[in-house]
Amino acid sequence: MVNLAAFASGRGSNFKTILDRLVERGLPGRYVLLVSDRIHPPCEDIALAAGIPFVYLNSKAFSDPHQYALRLLKELESRQVHWITLAGYLKLIPAEVVQRYQRHILNIHPALLPLFGGAGMYGERVHKAVIESGMKVSGATVHVVDEEYDRGQIVLQDTVPVHFDDTPEALAHRVLEVEHRIYPLAVEYAISDRIKVYGRRVEILP
Ligand code: GRF
Repeated sequence: MVNLAAFASGRGSNFKTILDRLVERGLPGRYVLLVSDRIHPPCEDIALAAGIPFVYLNSKAFSDPHQYALRLLKELESRQVHWITLAGYLKLIPAEVVQRYQRHILNIHPALLPLFGGAGMYGERVHKAVIESGMKVSGATVHVVDEEYDRGQIVLQDTVPVHFDDTPEALAHRVLEVEHRIYPLAVEYAISDRIKVYGRRVEILP
């Protein structure tokens, strides 16, 4: 069994979709931890209902950032976590954690990276920027996490059309359907060790 940790701050629909997929398909992966930087995020209920331990950890509560990273690592290593999935987690992952879990942290971004990513590009802002850019397509990206926001290698992407009269909400809804399709798939590839990274490029083994 491959142990997974989820990091989330919001409603957790991606976390829930992956969780369901693991069970439905009898995949050899299980969530053993949910970490959040919010005290009682909506996604906590999903974890509690599934019997997954929830840990609230906020860097602001630590005067020394190194102590925060060590605490995160302790939570992860004590549960023998092998892969981390970020979904709607707005904080940067400390460098110590990225190094320890190199190429074993995934994130989902609601646009086609390397466009429309980086610090401050989350939620409605992303979809607003896409619409204002005039792009005719948007989509979702599952990527490897490194020390910078939205910069790691692209694992999976898929697209949706952008309509002339789109609102950020309507586009977000369309993109979310893609997220729920490609993120569980990427996690399936991760736990079966099929994601191979070569420089900027990623190969999914058959
Ligand atoms: C998603 O749109 C994801 O792309 C972004 O944050 C949102 C999280 O949604 N990183 P949810 O909490 O999984 O419903």
